[in-house]
Amino acid sequence: MAKAGILFLRVCVQLLALPIYLLSFLGIWDPFCKKIFFPFFIEKLTASYNRKASRHKQELFSNLQEFAGPSGELTLLEIGTGTGANFQFYPFGCKITCTDTNLNFQHGLSKSMSQNQHLQFQRFLVVPGEDLNQVADSSMDAVVCTLVLCSVQSIERVLKEVLRVLRPGGAFYFLEHVAADCSSWCYFWQEVYYPTWKLVFAGCCLTRETWKSLEQAKFSEIKLRHIQMPLYWTPVQSHIIGYAIK
Ligand SMILES: C[S@@+](CC[C@H](N)C(=O)[O-])C[C@H]1O[C@@H](n2cnc3c(N)ncnc32)[C@H](O)[C@@H]1O
Repeated sequence: MAKAGILFLRVCVQLLALPIYLLSFLGIWDPFCKKIFFPFFIEKLTASYNRKASRHKQELFSNLQEFAGPSGELTLLEIGTGTGANFQFYPFGCKITCTDTNLNFQHGLSKSMSQNQHLQFQRFLVVPGEDLNQVADSSMDAVVCTLVLCSVQSIERVLKEVLRVLRPGGAFYFLEHVAADCSSWCYFWQEVYYPTWKLVFAGCCLTRETWKSLEQAKFSEIKLRHIQMPLYWTPVQSHIIGYAIK
């Protein structure tokens, strides 16, 4: 019964989004989304998301400096940097390598960089998290991913790369929206919106059980919590937050 309801409502949502499906069929939506819509949307979203997530982010990144090397310097790699929404939470002097697959966040990114001059920006690599071959083995004290694992092609390959580039004892920080409890209304609506959401928001998957991949990856220790972000009336309230040590 629930499955039939999901399928029915899914088709209704798809009909409402028919113009976008048509543009996608004509090959127009994907480049428009990547170049204009998604960067614009993420820039607008970042400020309001950061207000809601600020307490969680502050708490999450509060022990980053503890992972600095013997010289006190902290080298950090961010996967899927977008507009640099996390820069304000990184400690003074932190040496950052940014990576993303999309170059079109330049406007928001430059703004964040100029607002966060307490950081040392090292490199910007246009590479997917699944293939960080330009980053040396065991060269990073910390790696960060926020709202990225929902969109990557393979979480397993990203985590394998994270483990490769982290030095032993280094930490992987994450804050990701995930599948809601499968008996909840939120999960029902995630299932309804899934295909249209993925098309509209550049490949973002609503029902990933990302915590399972993290638990299966070969970290020596993992601190992970399930939390609800106050993103009312959206299907992205369920999040996981924490860090895992190599
Ligand atoms: C929702 S945005 C989040 C941006 C930023 N991390 C934040 O918290 O605001 C997702 C980002 O992940 C990037 N992305 C998607 N797939 C990726 C991949 N396979 N490797 C690296 N970045 C990816 C997108 O281009 C986009 O910048």
